[in-house]
Amino acid sequence: MIDESKYTYRVSAAGRVNLIGEHVDYCGGKVMPAALSLRNTIYVRPNGTDKINLAWTDIPARITLEIGRLGEYTHVKYANYPAGCAYLWQQAGHEIVGCDMLYDCTVPFGSGLSSSAAIEVSTIAALATLAGETLDPVQIALVAQKAECEYAGVNCGIMDQYAAACGKKDNAILLDCKTLVREYVPILLGDYTLVIANCNKPHSLVESKYNERRAETERALELLQTKADVTCLAELTPDAFGRIAYVLDGEGKVKDRARHVVEECDRVRRAAGAMKRGDVGTLGELLNASHASLRDLYEVTGAELDALAAAAQAHPACAGSRMTGAGFGGCTVSVVQKEGVADFKRTVAAKYTAKIGYEPSFYDCTVEDGIIVTKL
Ligand code: GLA
Repeated sequence: MIDESKYTYRVSAAGRVNLIGEHVDYCGGKVMPAALSLRNTIYVRPNGTDKINLAWTDIPARITLEIGRLGEYTHVKYANYPAGCAYLWQQAGHEIVGCDMLYDCTVPFGSGLSSSAAIEVSTIAALATLAGETLDPVQIALVAQKAECEYAGVNCGIMDQYAAACGKKDNAILLDCKTLVREYVPILLGDYTLVIANCNKPHSLVESKYNERRAETERALELLQTKADVTCLAELTPDAFGRIAYVLDGEGKVKDRARHVVEECDRVRRAAGAMKRGDVGTLGELLNASHASLRDLYEVTGAELDALAAAAQAHPACAGSRMTGAGFGGCTVSVVQKEGVADFKRTVAAKYTAKIGYEPSFYDCTVEDGIIVTKL
């Protein structure tokens, strides 16, 4: 039990599920994530020193960071994320107040639901709150993304940190990753609801494969720019891409990677329209098509996510299902008829376990705000 009376603020940021728009944020595309009730919460109080004392509810480690030496902790297990964020926030010109921080994370690690973004964004939000700043969630997201790239070495896009910071209860965020213009789209699914399932594949090589995909899209852009006046892959319509895709012939998988990005951007546009109309059938078909493209063209799914999505898609109560996040393991998101959810979970778990040899997990969660600050 956490004794809240000992702390000054409770500051949390959300894990996220991405409904559609996968592997397009770093290509200037639109994405549609939603912030979850699975979150990282920090209990924080000023301690009058020039140190930050870190503690965790589920890890016995206790680590002290010196505010004057924040750049030196990037290799310290557990502390690297908080330290990296505090350091980059400080570098961005913000005051860091000495404090005690207790971390309590309910986003499962390695689930593809962005526990790292939740930790990063809540760390910066807690520090800014203690320093008496008015929070600017977009700015916090940008610094958190920088921290992820600089100390985790993952050349990630802005989607996760943006969702962790700027999410809105019961809404998806339709975010243009090129301009950072966003629109909130109410998640109106009628008799249907979202179900998130983890394939529970042990983590492997996500970072290196992620950076490799990103490099392939950069190569594609470079070649396509010899034929089209575009600044990013997302600016190409599927038709325009079709006319010039021949420049990618002989480049191995690069053409498939680019095709995924271009077509996924088009699916996001159609999915946003379907969601606004409450057209669950179309939304579901787009989710299925997104998964197929991530499997066949972008090749970031793997046997486990494919088995989980296939089992979900085959269930009569399911309108559509796809992997969410970077892939190579982690979670699927499915749109499922509310009254069929219990049978869906049972049937999908049984089929998946029979094929893969271990069980998936299901998370009961809701769509919530990004950053939440409570004075205690
Ligand atoms: C990870 C990255 C995001 C995004 C997704 C794939 O979650 O952090 O920026 O690229 O993968 O859509």
